[in-house]
Amino acid sequence: MTDEHTRAHLLKTASYEAAPEDVHRVLLLYSGGLDTSVMLKWIQDEYDAEVVTLTVNLGQPGEDYSVVEGKARQLGAVESFLVDAREEFAHEYVVPAIKANAIYGLGYPLFTALGRPLIAKLAVQYARRSGCDTIAHGCTGKGNDQVRIEATVATLAPELKIIAPVRGWQMGRDEEVAYARENGIPVKGGSEVAPYSIDDNLWGRSSEGRWIEDLDHAPDDDVFQLVTRPEEAPDEPETVTLEFERGVPVALNGERLEIVELLERVGEIGARHGVGIVDHIEDRIVGLKVRDIYEVPAAAIILPAHAELEKLVGTIHQNQFKPALDRQWAYLVYAGLWWEPLRGDLDAYMDSVNAQVTGTIGMKLYKGSARVVTRESPNAVYDEALASFGASGGLFSQQASPGFIELWSLQSRMAWRLRNG
Ligand code: ARG
Repeated sequence: MTDEHTRAHLLKTASYEAAPEDVHRVLLLYSGGLDTSVMLKWIQDEYDAEVVTLTVNLGQPGEDYSVVEGKARQLGAVESFLVDAREEFAHEYVVPAIKANAIYGLGYPLFTALGRPLIAKLAVQYARRSGCDTIAHGCTGKGNDQVRIEATVATLAPELKIIAPVRGWQMGRDEEVAYARENGIPVKGGSEVAPYSIDDNLWGRSSEGRWIEDLDHAPDDDVFQLVTRPEEAPDEPETVTLEFERGVPVALNGERLEIVELLERVGEIGARHGVGIVDHIEDRIVGLKVRDIYEVPAAAIILPAHAELEKLVGTIHQNQFKPALDRQWAYLVYAGLWWEPLRGDLDAYMDSVNAQVTGTIGMKLYKGSARVVTRESPNAVYDEALASFGASGGLFSQQASPGFIELWSLQSRMAWRLRNG
C-alpha cells in the first residue's frame, strides 16, 4: 500500500467519524470474511488500538460461528462476542415488515435493510459494555449499509465514534488478498475470480458483483445457492397453509411453530420449489442504480399470503389506503431510518389494521411460483350469499343499484358534459 492509500482514512467529513487520536479500543462488526479479517489486523496496526469483535447470527444459513470466533482470536481480537439475535430479528424486525407488506422497489423484501439497524444496535450495546470508544464496520462507501449502520450508531450513541476502513483504504480485492497473505490471515479460495458479494439472513439472500453488474447478462446458474432453479424443482406442486394471528404467522400446515422455525421451514419448502428468485434493478439511497440477485423463498410465500388475508378482512377504504403507508414504511427502512419516529407512527397504524388479520391462506408452490389458492378468516368482510350471482335480498338489493349508479356517477357525468357537451 502507498502512503496515500493508508492515509485516506484520516480525512474526516462527519462529526461522528473518529480522528486517529480518538481510537483506543474498537468494536469491529466481524463476519469472518476477507474485508473484516483484513480490517481486524489493519486497525490494530494503523491505530495501535485494541479490537473487540462482534458477530451477529441473524440466521445466515450454513455459517460456522465457532470458526469465525476462532479466527477473530487468532487475528488478535482481545475479546470476541457472538450473539444469536434470530429471535429478536424475527419478532421485532421481520414481523413488523410482514404487517407492512414490506417490499422496496417492487421486488426487494428488505432482509439486509432490516438486519442492519439490529446489528448496529447490538454493536452499540457491546461497545458500551466492553469499554470501546469506536465502532468499525466493513461497508464500502457506495452502499446503503453504511447509511443504516452509521445512522443507527449516531442516533443511539452520540458518544461513540465510527471508522469504516474499506471506505478509505482503497485496496482492491487483489491488494486485500496480498495484505492477508503478508499478515497470516487465512483466505478462503485465493487469487482466482472474486466471489459474488453475498449478504444473507433468515429473511433472504442477496448476490452482487461479477456478471450481475452486466445488465444484459442473464443469471448464471451458480449464483443460486439457496433456491432450487425452477426448472430443477419438483414436477409435483405442493400446497402449504399459513395461519396468521393478528398479522403474525403462527402455524404452517396446521402445526404451530415459533416464529424463527416457521420462517426457516417456509423458506426451505419455498427453496425446494424454486420460489423467490428476484432479478432486481434497485435505486440505492446514495444515488447509484444497481442490480441485485435475490433469493427470498420465505418472503415470497409469506408476504403474498399476508397481503391476501389483509385484503380479505379490510374494507375497500382500508385496502385502498394502506399500500401508500406500506410503501412509505419500506422506503424508510430501506433508507436506513429505522429509528425515525415516523416508522413508529406507521407501525401503530399497521398494528391497528393487523388486529383483524387472523385466518389461514393456502399457497400452491410449483416450479418457481407461489399462488394463493384458499382463504379462510373469521374476520372476512365477505358473505358468500351476498357475493353469489343468485337471488338478491338481505343486505343487498339489486333494485337499489340503478339509484346508486345515478348518484355515484353524477359529478363525472356533469364534468364530461361540460367538456364534450
Ligand atoms: N441491495 C440490498 C440493500 O441495499 C442488499 C445489500 C446487500 N448488502 C451487502 N453488503 N452485500 O439492502
